[in-house]
Amino acid sequence: MGAARMNLDRLWRRGRDFLGTDVAIMGGAMSWVSERHLVAAISNAGGFGVLACGSMSPEQLSAEIEATQILTAKPFGVNLITMHPKLADLIEVCGRLQVGHVVLAGGLPQAASITRAKELGARVVCFAPTAAFAKKLIRIGADALVIEGTEAGGHIGPVATSVLAQEILPEVAADVPVFVAGGIGRGEVIVSYLEMGAVGVQLGTRFVCATESIAHANFKQAFIRANARDAMPSAQVDPNFPVIPVRALTNAASRRFIEFQHEVIGRFRQGALDQKAAQLEIEHYWAGALRRAVIEGDVENGSVMAGQSVGMVTREQPTAEIINELVEQAVRALRDREPAGAPV
Ligand SMILES: Cc1cc2nc3c(=O)[nH]c(=O)nc-3n(C[C@H](O)[C@H](O)[C@H](O)COP(=O)(O)O)c2cc1C
Repeated sequence: MGAARMNLDRLWRRGRDFLGTDVAIMGGAMSWVSERHLVAAISNAGGFGVLACGSMSPEQLSAEIEATQILTAKPFGVNLITMHPKLADLIEVCGRLQVGHVVLAGGLPQAASITRAKELGARVVCFAPTAAFAKKLIRIGADALVIEGTEAGGHIGPVATSVLAQEILPEVAADVPVFVAGGIGRGEVIVSYLEMGAVGVQLGTRFVCATESIAHANFKQAFIRANARDAMPSAQVDPNFPVIPVRALTNAASRRFIEFQHEVIGRFRQGALDQKAAQLEIEHYWAGALRRAVIEGDVENGSVMAGQSVGMVTREQPTAEIINELVEQAVRALRDREPAGAPV
C-alpha cells in the first residue's frame, strides 16, 4: 500500500474503527432513497450505509432492517427522526435486530432515547448544530456526532459546513468521533476535513444516482442535469409563518410554494383562518412530496431534495465506483502533499 493511502487510513482510523468499515464514508440516510438496496450497496463497497426510517411504522422498519441484513453482512446504521410518534418502539426494533449504530436526526434527542438505544447495544450518533449543542449531546451520551452544513440536501441549518467545522471540531473532536456532512462531492475536501480533526464524512447527494439507488429515472436525470445553484433552500415569505428550510432543486412545486404561502397568509389576514391553521396548511404543502419525486418520478410537482454538490453528480455509477473515486481523489491529494522523492 502506498504511503498516501496509509496516511489516509491513519487520518480516518478512528472513524473506520467506530463504524467498523474499510473507509469512513457514511451514506447519509435519505428518506425513500436510502432503503435496503442502496444501504447494502454502500456497506458492501466498504462504506457505511444508513437506512432512512422516515415515517415508517415499527413493523415496516423491522422488515427493512431484516431485508438489508440479507443483502449485506457488513455494518450499517438506522436513522430515526426524533419527532416520530413511535420513536421509542423504533428504538426497540433496532435493539431486537441488533442494529449496531442508531443515528438520531431531526431535532435534539431526549437523553432517554440515547440511553435506551445504548442499553440495547447500539452506538448512538447525533447531529450537532453548534459547539454548545455538541457538548450537551456528548454529556447526555452521544457516542459520535455529525456536523452538517447548509450546503446539504434535505432539511438544513443556516451555517456553512466550513464554518461549522472550524467552530465545532476544535472543541469536541478529541472527545468523540465527528463526521462532517454537507456539500462534499470529491475526495480532496474529505482530506481537508480529516486534517481539521474529523474522523470521517457523510454524503447524501452524491449517492442518489448510484446504480443501486431505487430513485426514479426522472429523479436521477434531474440530479445529472442540475448545477449547484439549482439546489436552493425553500423560501419563506413571512417571518410570522416560519418554513423549515429544505434544500431541493428549484421546480414548479417550489415556485408555487411562494404563491401558496401568500394565498394562505392572505386568508389568515382576512380572518378566514386562524394563525395555527394557516401555519399547518403551509407545513402540509410538502406532505408526500419527496415520495412523489423519488418514487413516482414527478420531479416538477414533488420535492427534489438535493445538496449543492449536485453539480458534481454527472452520471449514474455503481456505488463501489463512487466510493473508489472519492478514495482515489483523497489519496491523490495526500500524494501531492508529499515531498518529492518520498515513497508512494
Ligand atoms: C433526497 C434526500 C433526502 C434526505 N432525507 C434525510 C432523512 O430522512 N433523514 C436525515 O437525517 N437526513 C436526510 N437527508 C440528509 C442526508 O442524510 C445527508 O446528511 C446529506 O445529504 C449530506 O449532504 P450532501 O447532500 O451535501 O451530501 C436527505 C438528503 C437528501 C438529498
